[in-house]
Amino acid sequence: MRIFSGIQPTGTKHLGNYVGAIRQYVEGQDRGDPAIYCIVDLHAVTVPYEPAQLRERVLDTTATLIAAGLDPERCVLFRQGDVTEHAELSWLLTSVTAVGELNRMHQFRDKSAAQRELVSAGLLFYPVLQAADVLLYRADEVPVGEDQREHLELMRDVARRFNARFGEDILVVPEHRIPTVGARIMDLQEPTRKMSTTGGSVEGTVYVLDEPKAIEKKVRRAVTDAEDPFTIRRDPKGKPGVTNLIDLTAVARGVSPDEVIASLEGARGYGDLKLAAAEAITTMLAPVRERYAELRADEAGLEAILEAGAERARALARPVLADVREAMGVGARAR
Ligand code: TYM
Repeated sequence: MRIFSGIQPTGTKHLGNYVGAIRQYVEGQDRGDPAIYCIVDLHAVTVPYEPAQLRERVLDTTATLIAAGLDPERCVLFRQGDVTEHAELSWLLTSVTAVGELNRMHQFRDKSAAQRELVSAGLLFYPVLQAADVLLYRADEVPVGEDQREHLELMRDVARRFNARFGEDILVVPEHRIPTVGARIMDLQEPTRKMSTTGGSVEGTVYVLDEPKAIEKKVRRAVTDAEDPFTIRRDPKGKPGVTNLIDLTAVARGVSPDEVIASLEGARGYGDLKLAAAEAITTMLAPVRERYAELRADEAGLEAILEAGAERARALARPVLADVREAMGVGARAR
């Protein structure tokens, strides 16, 4: 079972990233053969960014992932821009990708609408690069949050179309792995919107590296609802704020939402749910924050980890890219 996932080096990672994705990466690292995790700096250049900051952000993200439990000895952890095979396969896959499909992607529509100056072609082609990331390793399983479902479907279409056109079994059609609880963590202030680095509210976004006090404050102010009398139950449509807090508590405690609801049977109001959520989240994130500072301070160490990871990634990627080039008739014939 080969596992692959990617994460953007934009800003600090939030609770949605942690619950929807990072937790799953840690779970997958001993199941994966191997588990491959990539910090996608090539994706980060599709929207306005500061070149001087990009490398810093990659190191921030690397330290966060290791602090969260990734062990570079047990998984392949690397930076996308260090393995040039990603960019080449991305180009080759454009030949079996329909522009119409790219145009319809929700993420493209949302992100392009948010651009004030330039809607880059990179933003449109973002999902092709993402397909290349996974297909380059013939990965079977891709742990992601719910918002990546559409990109995963496109990736599967691209793989199928490639195989139909150039030869069966050259690429593996991957499966997504989306958690049953916590796949879409909502903004605490606007619980009908997902928690996000770019689109959400500052008070409604909990960062993995937030101090416990900041987390408590944000959770205490979370928007719930005015149902009278109050009820603590799951209802994503009718009670998105309460549902979000139940799910977060469940994931952070490592129990089911029903168990959380049962534990709050004598609650006097939503305040008790918020208290439970804040406690569970701070307990879950505290060790990550504590480990982060020391890891982040050792930049040479982080760079060495990424370089060793890139070396291993290249060794896995090269033969697959060679098969693709051969099947497509690109470049000199392989000897
Ligand atoms: P990124 O960095 O935006 O998100 C990283 C992961 O976090 C998940 N996520 C969430 N999960 C639950 N609730 C939320 N509110 C929430 N917000 C984000 C995302 O689903 C994602 O799994 N396009 C990818 C990066 C990527 C990739 C890949 C992923 C590039 N190549 C190949 C998988 C395979 C992204 O947007 O990451």
